[in-house]
Amino acid sequence: MSSGKKIDRRNFIKAAAATGILAKTVFAGNSQGTSAKKIRVGHIGCGNVALNAYIVAMQASPFIEIVSTCDIIHSRAEALAKKFGIPKYYYNVHEQLAGPEFDLLVNTTSMPSHFEVNEAALEAGRNVWTEKPMALKVSDAHRLIELARKKGVKIYPAPTVVTSPQFKFMAETIGSGKVGKIFSAHATYGHEGKLWSPWFFQKGGGSLYDLGVYNVGTLTGLLGPARSVVGMYGISTPMRTVHPHDGPPEDVKVTADDNTMLIMEHDNAVFSHIQTGYTYFSGRDDKDISRTDYTMDLTGTDGIMHLAGYDWGPHGVDMVYRTETEPGKMERYCEDPGTYTWQGGPAYVAECMLTGKPSLITAEHGLHVLEVMNACLESQETGRRVKIESTFNWPIFR
Ligand SMILES: NC(=O)c1ccc[n+]([C@@H]2O[C@H](COP(=O)([O-])OP(=O)(O)OC[C@H]3O[C@@H](n4cnc5c(N)ncnc54)[C@H](O)[C@@H]3O)[C@@H](O)[C@H]2O)c1
Repeated sequence: MSSGKKIDRRNFIKAAAATGILAKTVFAGNSQGTSAKKIRVGHIGCGNVALNAYIVAMQASPFIEIVSTCDIIHSRAEALAKKFGIPKYYYNVHEQLAGPEFDLLVNTTSMPSHFEVNEAALEAGRNVWTEKPMALKVSDAHRLIELARKKGVKIYPAPTVVTSPQFKFMAETIGSGKVGKIFSAHATYGHEGKLWSPWFFQKGGGSLYDLGVYNVGTLTGLLGPARSVVGMYGISTPMRTVHPHDGPPEDVKVTADDNTMLIMEHDNAVFSHIQTGYTYFSGRDDKDISRTDYTMDLTGTDGIMHLAGYDWGPHGVDMVYRTETEPGKMERYCEDPGTYTWQGGPAYVAECMLTGKPSLITAEHGLHVLEVMNACLESQETGRRVKIESTFNWPIFR
């Protein structure tokens, strides 16, 4: 394919995303073959999440065709490509970007690599779906957003929490006033820290970036941007052992938070609290992943909402609210998960790119979540409350 044709197609995707015409022209059927009907994905980071969740989710999507994969660990790139029938594999992002054309880079590398990989892809004019956080420094996240703007592409950061039907239900219920005004909320996510890669326990990893990040996304999404943060963290277990799927166990000196508490101040005297850590019992019968009890409580002046299950895999919302005629009764709402999955981010944004549907997941929200998390770490290190500068388009459902 000549470079002229490549640019044409990329501009076509961009224009279509802006106007929504692709849905009409492409899904109506044409003679250009499968690649014209789908967003072509270059995937990078062939570890646990790719192997066990992301690739299967992308291959199940009608909106995605995976053209290449990449990992700095050569054996992982090759093994993943062979297991899933991905045509090309590479050992660094620059070689991958010079290989077969793609529209969207899907970044599931380890957190400390996110910025450099995202920057390289944006620089090459590619859209990006990135695992969280989009960068480690707020200044780097600003740089990515600016670069995307300059190149006329988009960067979409995980998590996907704002796309769950339970999030929509809670956001719309808050907006309706049914539970009065919410002034306080609490969320939690933790497990024992039985992990497979050293970086989870080292600076640039940690339980807040890995687990608490979902709660920060949900609570800022529901209650609005944070204006200041107070936080504490500690290291409960100075040494951990990780168990990679393709290598021997390794002992790791822990240098990142593994037990963390965060309080956010939102506007108008609204406060929320998050607790997260690798210090949480998770050997339950329901195997933690399908945890069905409450992980989030939103207490309003006229009602209460509890989220059943984690916000990245919710089971429903229990709600009680004041009525004029009867005493309030706790009832379960929104049990149907629809098509929502935490690993469905690339399929979601590919659909948005093809149809012009606006994405609920935005780079500005991802940057805000990063600033809140960094403020929590800074608060522990300085003993001070930390102001938050960034904001994002809120409410998410109008
Ligand atoms: N595993 C999960 O259950 C899970 C769930 C949700 C989100 N995530 C997120 O997904 C990301 C990956 O998690 P994981 O558990 O798969 O980690 P992992 O350590 O198993 O895999 C990461 C892979 O990225 C590769 N890599 C690192 N830097 C690279 C670079 N510059 N270029 C190419 N490859 C590079 C590593 O060699 C490794 O194979 C993280 O951001 C994590 O927080 C993971």
